[in-house]
Amino acid sequence: MNPSLPLDAIELASRDELASLQLDRLKWSLSHAYENSPVYRRKFSEAGIHPSELKTLADLSRFPFTTKQDLRDNYPFGLFAVPQDRIARIHASSGTTGKPTVVGYTARDIDTWATLVARSIRAAGARPGDKVHVSYGYGLFTGGLGAHYGAERAGLTVIPFGGGQTEKQVQLIQDFRPDIIMVTPSYMLSIADELERQGIDPARCSLRIGIFGAEPWTNDMRRAIEARMGIDAVDIYGLSEVIGPGVASECVETKDGPTIWEDHFYPEIVDPETGEALPDGEFGELVFTSLTKEALPIVRYRTRDLTRLLPGSARTMRRMEKITGRCDDMMIVRGVNVFPTQIEELLLKQHALAPHYQIVLTKEGPLDIMTVNVEPRPQAAADIATLRAAQQALAYDIKSLIGVTAVVNVLAMNGIERSVGKARRVIDMRKARA
Ligand code: DLL
Repeated sequence: MNPSLPLDAIELASRDELASLQLDRLKWSLSHAYENSPVYRRKFSEAGIHPSELKTLADLSRFPFTTKQDLRDNYPFGLFAVPQDRIARIHASSGTTGKPTVVGYTARDIDTWATLVARSIRAAGARPGDKVHVSYGYGLFTGGLGAHYGAERAGLTVIPFGGGQTEKQVQLIQDFRPDIIMVTPSYMLSIADELERQGIDPARCSLRIGIFGAEPWTNDMRRAIEARMGIDAVDIYGLSEVIGPGVASECVETKDGPTIWEDHFYPEIVDPETGEALPDGEFGELVFTSLTKEALPIVRYRTRDLTRLLPGSARTMRRMEKITGRCDDMMIVRGVNVFPTQIEELLLKQHALAPHYQIVLTKEGPLDIMTVNVEPRPQAAADIATLRAAQQALAYDIKSLIGVTAVVNVLAMNGIERSVGKARRVIDMRKARA
């Protein structure tokens, strides 16, 4: 067996060494933002704080937050803190409404990013000589190029497929025999379906590791994918505003939530309503401050992702619990808060049903109606009695465990729209009708 790849020295540092590095870098990052970005200078001044007042890591909580709205208000390049001739790359996240969020990188930022994705790929269990099939989309989305540069930096062979053309993905997976795949978990399922459609047992293909992220997915989904594909499935987290994929990533030996690469991004958890900083271990909104980024320093960025900070396990750096939802994804159905991942967990208990789903919210008079569209597994597609039992069991579980009445609709196979990137889990038609 090939040996695993060596860790970066900082991954072996003590908490004290790490904290001292973070404080130095944080001082630099806040000053850099203040000195070079008029937007940050104004925000800091309005909050009555100056970078020189940061004496400890805890002082960070006195600095103002940055939100997606700040990026939109300063569209496209207003938050950049270096002259345009130092910007080596632009990415953008499309968002569902309005202008895209634009982010920039200097050559050194790209280098840092590649280092961190390489670190993430090693943490996933990569070995020298591995081939990495990248099915994240290339382009303005950070997934494809982020994965690509990281795999190259790790010294591995990259297959830069990108998203889509599922039949061809399968053909090349069969022919090129990659060891690792980097893709959204929902698109992994489509690739697995296509393997089966072509008569190939997914568990017998060459893949050993899947590095999945860009959307929420549950531990039950992990187990389902691992069993079906015969791989280790690990979680990679990131967002374009902070750098892209590789802000945090899971270690294969523990699979207990992404380790945050804290030498470059300082995490906090805040109360999503009040913005008050919360201690480690408490649930809330994840907030990041970049420690080394040049082109777009990001100070206390409100990710809208809900999780909690946990102590290090496979590394000294802290972990975040697997993200179960975003503030924005929370559905309020007849007064009950529901996240799509809660439905996912219950759906995965039904062996007659496939792991594809979509939730449609409508109104009947004043009442919210939640419809959960699901599909049969191919083996169960013709077995009406089993499907009806699964449909009833899922509706029962949703009512008794989440507390909302749902209409469960078993569609035909392939009845649910497939995405080649992030799955669209919720269609809310309530506002459209109002
Ligand atoms: O999705 C970056 C990325 C690419 C991460 C590939 C991992 C793999 P954005 O398009 O800016 O960037 O979307 C960021 O996606 O705030 C989360 O809500 C969600 N997200 C990303 N990774 C995970 C994950 C990329 N592992 C937004 N689990 C974030 C849950 C995730 N949600």
